[in-house]
Amino acid sequence: MPMPSAVTLTVNGAEVSVPQGATVAAAVAMAGQPCRVSVSGSPRGPLCGMGICFECRVRIDGRSHCRSCQILCEPGMDVKTDE
Ligand code: FES
Repeated sequence: MPMPSAVTLTVNGAEVSVPQGATVAAAVAMAGQPCRVSVSGSPRGPLCGMGICFECRVRIDGRSHCRSCQILCEPGMDVKTDE
């Protein structure tokens, strides 16, 4: 079985390559970043993995509050975890 193609995007300015079909949440995890930081300063990340909890929200290409567990990586995406 052939390996899936890689998709390269940036997370907080750092290039990350993930297999095609990976979610943005996976790319953020591979970059070693939390998805966001709570108002009290706690790192937050995916909890439900199905679009309910909003703990995985990030900014993608300038668009805020994107649920990273529900969005597939696309080449050249600019992901920021400063929500
Ligand atoms: S992990 Fe819950 S909405 Fe993404």
